[in-house]
Amino acid sequence: MCGIVGYIGQREASPILLEGLKRLEYRGYDSAGVAVLADETLKLKKYKGRVTDLARTASSSDLTGSLGISHTRWATHGAVTEENAHPHVSHDGKISLVHNGVIENYLSVKKFLESNGVEFYSETDSEVFCNLIAYHYEKEDKNSPNRFLNSVRRSLRHLDGTYGIAAICTDCPDELFGARKGSPLIVGIGTDEYLLASDVSAIISRTSNVVYLNDGEIVSLKNGELNLLTNDEEVLTPEVQKIDWDIAESELGDYEHFMLKEIFEQSGALENAMRGRFSDDQSTAKFGGLNVSAQELRQVDRILLCACGTAWHACLVGEYLIERYARIPVEVEYASEFRYRNAPLDKNTLVLVISQSGETIDTLAALRESKRKGYKTLAINNSVGSTIARESDGGIYQHAGPEIGVASTKAFTSQLHILSMLALYLGRLRDMSFQEGVEYVEALKQAPELVTETVKLNDEILAISEKYKDMQDCLFLGRQDMFPIALEGALKLKEISYIHAEGYPAAEMKHGPIALINESCPAIVLATQPDIHAKLLSNIQEVKARGAPVIAIATKSNPLPKHLVDDQILIPDSHRAVLPVLASIPMQLLSYHIANLRGCDVDKPRNLAKSVTVE
Ligand code: F6R
Repeated sequence: MCGIVGYIGQREASPILLEGLKRLEYRGYDSAGVAVLADETLKLKKYKGRVTDLARTASSSDLTGSLGISHTRWATHGAVTEENAHPHVSHDGKISLVHNGVIENYLSVKKFLESNGVEFYSETDSEVFCNLIAYHYEKEDKNSPNRFLNSVRRSLRHLDGTYGIAAICTDCPDELFGARKGSPLIVGIGTDEYLLASDVSAIISRTSNVVYLNDGEIVSLKNGELNLLTNDEEVLTPEVQKIDWDIAESELGDYEHFMLKEIFEQSGALENAMRGRFSDDQSTAKFGGLNVSAQELRQVDRILLCACGTAWHACLVGEYLIERYARIPVEVEYASEFRYRNAPLDKNTLVLVISQSGETIDTLAALRESKRKGYKTLAINNSVGSTIARESDGGIYQHAGPEIGVASTKAFTSQLHILSMLALYLGRLRDMSFQEGVEYVEALKQAPELVTETVKLNDEILAISEKYKDMQDCLFLGRQDMFPIALEGALKLKEISYIHAEGYPAAEMKHGPIALINESCPAIVLATQPDIHAKLLSNIQEVKARGAPVIAIATKSNPLPKHLVDDQILIPDSHRAVLPVLASIPMQLLSYHIANLRGCDVDKPRNLAKSVTVE
């Protein structure tokens, strides 16, 4: 949600800023801008549109200088206009700022500044933020070496809400400030240069050494020095961490879209999720970073799984897996609901949050609330060093590599696989037999190969997508652990193709949604569980009787009768704990191809951003 890049060093800032913005564009893409400072002169370029358009217009303008800030926006306050785009500049032209987050008391601060003669050109809270720094800057002792720092500090004290910022001042052509509260910010340490960014992907081509800022911290980058401070004037020692991403992982390569690339990367993502995580002699999984002993886990009598969006669907599958294989009662909560619901939890409850980015503000707030109440709170997370990774008591890294496509694919199936491994681990701590564990481990290890086999259905799925690309509505139906996969299928289709889609437990359809069924509303039915085939077949008959086309996803050894389906996609047979992963793939490919055939921007769907850092 909004991407920030800042640069200070020996090189021209603007190409580095623009390259960083391109890599961050999945965080927001309605407008973008760059400000560069040289010889106390601020040069600014903003564009209502994509970073590539900004880059085209910026290259022809004079944006020279080796200190600068930049931003790609996902609008919160104010419409998508050039005025509302960042960087913002204070009324006196001295301070320039880029901001990710939401300032909640911006209206009262704006009124105060207006009463002091400040005129605003935009509707944004960020312009207010920028002018508040300018206001304090004006009031500070003009000879103080810390004049800019103090004005940033004073401003932060007056603002409620969340922010990740980068700021520069025309009087300080050799200083770049960053500060964070609630919105991610990292410092990249390069050769003779520093970068500020809201995400590692913006800077990975220049350095793999980073410092993650915590809430309430300010960083000053000046004269080749990095000074990390708290808002209460405490000086901190920065902890430098090494990022182990391969730059090629964030490039498109031969693929047309990141989403397709990431669908094809799923086999490798599962391999990475499993690497070093089995104890074959005990036929179980093992996790290095849980920070909860086996004995403590045996005491757990309830698990709460909490997340948003696609990760919430992974939680729903996790509920089936953990209850089935570990026999521990599980509840699943939307993170945004958990925080305000004040649910009574037993002291032996384990809370597990799931987040690809590790920055989703609702999930982070749920984690904090859970910790505040004293529950052991773990995380499954794909972003090493993210806020959720750092604040959880322990957890499991996904190691799925960067996910750039806004619609989550490989991160989702990697979460499912880790939940299967966790269900195995918890099951083996309780009642699961050694032999059952042996079969389970074997099935999990075989999953990457089966994923490779499943993605080979791509051409077949493209042909089916051609047939259905013009539909207006679509129902996804599944039972038990395939119900969340139906929900995920519907989410994937609607978010990238803008087709109205809904997921339902197949039997629930006759309690209402069946009213929607007609010949132009196909039903995609997940029919991978032989034990409930008979029941599902009656649900399919109900759909067919109302003229709707049926696309079935079934396993090779248990196809549905041909006369009941219009199209059928057959996935490999596997263990019950692996099938949700395999069944997800045809739906990802269907959504991808349908959206692509409709001319939609698959990697950057309208109104969406990859990492949702506002509530
Ligand atoms: C949909 C999608 C979102 C995310 C959700 C949570 O394809 O990607 O629904 O799953 O915003 O994001 P993370 O997992 O980063 O917390």
